Amino acid sequence: MSDSIALWHAEHRHFARLLDLLEQQVVAFHADDGPNYELMLDVVSYLRYFPDRYHHRREDVAFACLVKRDPGLKPLIAQMLQEHRVIAAAGTELLSYLQQVIDDVVTERAKVEAAAATYLVYYRRHLALEDRDLVPRAEQLLTAQDWEAVVAATPAGPDPLFGEDAEQRYRELRRQIALAAPEL
Ligand SMILES: [Fe+2]
Ligand SMILES: [Fe+2]
Repeated sequence: MSDSIALWHAEHRHFARLLDLLEQQVVAFHADDGPNYELMLDVVSYLRYFPDRYHHRREDVAFACLVKRDPGLKPLIAQMLQEHRVIAAAGTELLSYLQQVIDDVVTERAKVEAAAATYLVYYRRHLALEDRDLVPRAEQLLTAQDWEAVVAATPAGPDPLFGEDAEQRYRELRRQIALAAPEL
């Protein structure tokens, strides 16, 4: 397996772990059982920052190459590209709800829950579709030159959460991830 494919899968696994962590807090929120709002905010902030700016940009280039190699994938890829935009917008909305809750602004609980639930379902389905239908095709069809274009799509930057040197603001989230899933 190439480094690019391994990284692609690893990032999806990271995002899936974060969605699990978010879901645990959403369940606690629903049950009024001491949800950790800061943790929820950190999860969604990270997902709004790193995947949207790095992972999805690389995918956008990989998918453009993939359509050239297999035009039959065009409808699915058009859907995935649209989902990147929807995921970003849904993340922004959820972030603003969580910030309102943290700031003690009166917020309808049902709206916060609906935004979180929609985000979880949508994001998980997106990852599953990519893992099942697109990453394996990319592994088969993309050329070395295609992969160079994918890598060049984003500046080399450390992953602020899963990288060697986690940023200060994500220290608590990293600790929670280690508690929930020590193998990461
Ligand atoms: Fe994607
Ligand atoms: Fe992805």
